[in-house]
Amino acid sequence: MTAHLVTGIGELVTFDPRYEGPLGVVHDAALVVVDNHVVWTGRSTTAPAADTRHDVHGAAVLPGFVDSHTHLVFAGDRSAEFEARSARRPYTGGGIATTVAATRAATTDQLTAAARRLAAEARRQGTTTLEIKSGYGLDVPTEQRLLRVAGSLTPETTYLGAHVIPAGAPRADYVDLVTGPMLAACAPLARWADVFCEPGSPVAFDEDESRAVLTAAAAAGLGLRVHGNQLGPGPGARLAVEHGAASIDHATHLDEADVTALADAAPHGGPVVTLLPGVELSTRSPFPDARRLLDAGVEVALASDCNPGTCYSTSMPLMVALAVTLMGMTTAEAVRAATLAGARALRRDDIGHLRVGARADLCVLDAPTHRHLAYRPGVPLARTLELPDAPGADAPRRDQDGRHGHRP
Ligand code: NIG
Ligand code: FE
Repeated sequence: MTAHLVTGIGELVTFDPRYEGPLGVVHDAALVVVDNHVVWTGRSTTAPAADTRHDVHGAAVLPGFVDSHTHLVFAGDRSAEFEARSARRPYTGGGIATTVAATRAATTDQLTAAARRLAAEARRQGTTTLEIKSGYGLDVPTEQRLLRVAGSLTPETTYLGAHVIPAGAPRADYVDLVTGPMLAACAPLARWADVFCEPGSPVAFDEDESRAVLTAAAAAGLGLRVHGNQLGPGPGARLAVEHGAASIDHATHLDEADVTALADAAPHGGPVVTLLPGVELSTRSPFPDARRLLDAGVEVALASDCNPGTCYSTSMPLMVALAVTLMGMTTAEAVRAATLAGARALRRDDIGHLRVGARADLCVLDAPTHRHLAYRPGVPLARTLELPDAPGADAPRRDQDGRHGHRP
């Protein structure tokens, strides 16, 4: 099997406790990859012999970004809704219906082509793992189509039939559909289930409805994720703790009791809090208090939430820069949040770090240190490093039984 030596690394971020600081940094480093896995890391002067050699000339190398929250499969455009926010029109979730109509009308080939373009765009900015949700179908055949498209791009597929109540549908009937026949049809195509729990929004799900969705999805064998506390205070974070969800996402409006519940659950594998600062940027909203969560001992992840309504960006470097400049995170905390913590939000231990045994998902910066991700906002510094025999991160991986990805 071919051994690839990547050398000339000015700063290697590994998260290996043998090395320096919270990021496990090695300076003047090298790394050896065999069969797309890291088999050695250390100082370049002590590197073992290998079959091929790739010199990155002093660049920083990080684990590839893990974008643990996206809605990449959709059709249509909502730039007019975005523009209207310049005139102070707030985001309410009402525009989701526009995307649902365009998505239902699109062919599967059109949806696949558009999602592939966005996945490639993410990869060009250093993202090597994407989670992708359904949720713009809201009927059984379209939700299935969206999950099949998502599954062609990633093993981290999420059933989000409980995105919003479709216009005109009686609420109770739609909850019955999402927890019954739609779940049965979609569960074999998904690893995760998610619910938009936002009792203040007329289109999203209230506490009892969200509880019903989470209970049914867990019974169907899916891991759980929650959209919550985005537009105002609510029960989302508490429900995520109660139901053993892997992640509570958005979490912009948390009260003291929420933070305490998350902190108490943290040592026992409680939910990662996934902050989505591109949403606050694009909806002109106040940013979440990352510092309060980190100081309480909660694992904080960063993700893009790429979707046509609240954040049409695939850029994880942008999320890192926003977290550092506007949310009080250090650059090291933000890099961890975009890599290791994203992997934890997906309950994966093979990605998000570069310890021996990890997948060789590598992000190279056109810069000497990870700090430049925040120091040089908006500059295209990050790219993935493709070694000759590595399968693209876009390639789906299947378990032996044919289901996508790892079961949570
Ligand atoms: O994560 N909050 C709910 N869903 C998406 C937005 C979807 C849309 O507006 O199209 C989000 O922000
Ligand atoms: Fe989202």
